[in-house]
Amino acid sequence: MRLDDLIFSQGFGVRRLCAGLIAAGRVAVDGKVRTDPATPIDVTAPGLTFSVEGTPWPYQPRAYLMLHKPAGYECSQRPSAWPSVLSLLPAPLRQRPTSGKVAGVQPVGRLDQDTTGLLLLSDDGAFLHRMSSPKRHVPKVYEAQTRHPLDERQLARLREGVVLNDDPRPVRAADCAALDSHRLSLTLTEGKYHQVKRMVAAVGNRVETLHRARIGGLVLPADLAPGQWRWLGARELELLVGDSGVG
Ligand code: URA
Repeated sequence: MRLDDLIFSQGFGVRRLCAGLIAAGRVAVDGKVRTDPATPIDVTAPGLTFSVEGTPWPYQPRAYLMLHKPAGYECSQRPSAWPSVLSLLPAPLRQRPTSGKVAGVQPVGRLDQDTTGLLLLSDDGAFLHRMSSPKRHVPKVYEAQTRHPLDERQLARLREGVVLNDDPRPVRAADCAALDSHRLSLTLTEGKYHQVKRMVAAVGNRVETLHRARIGGLVLPADLAPGQWRWLGARELELLVGDSGVG
């Protein structure tokens, strides 16, 4: 691949801008400054890295990331009242081209503005579809702080299934356990609008705070602080789409 095409593919701006950055000596590949935009680069080389204006970047044919979503952000490209989670990412991730158009990475499904925790993002349409398809039943584990004390009856009803107002079929938690008197862990395999909050309300309690701790086999790492993001490694992708994840 030509170097200007490579830089363009990673979200560093239109081709002309990328060629200009290269000609100005602002791009290095594997530590070596390259000034010819037509320099051929072997993108199949494992661990290929480049830098643009001193910022190192791994070459990624497709972007797969996890973000520790903080409260106060919307999972939308066009947010209405709060900033978008995309504003927490560096510009190249928001500008990556897909089929020649600037599309950037997109969140896999949505968390409410006030929900925190594990959010996946990608520019791979097949992955986005695969991970959010209701048919795949990817288990997602939430931790909820409740206003009122939890009791066995509430937990049993969440496991047996509750009827929400938009569907006569009961929705149930695949798993549900009290972590303490006001804290609940709930595993869902569907993704209905405000599902945890509505299920907890349906059993007579109320969610005060909500956190997503896990998707498929992937647990939010303890060292990923709110607002931080990280590339997903091959092993983590395997946990999501392999046997222990999406299946
Ligand atoms: N259920 C909710 O109620 N809110 C979320 O953000 C996710 C699941």
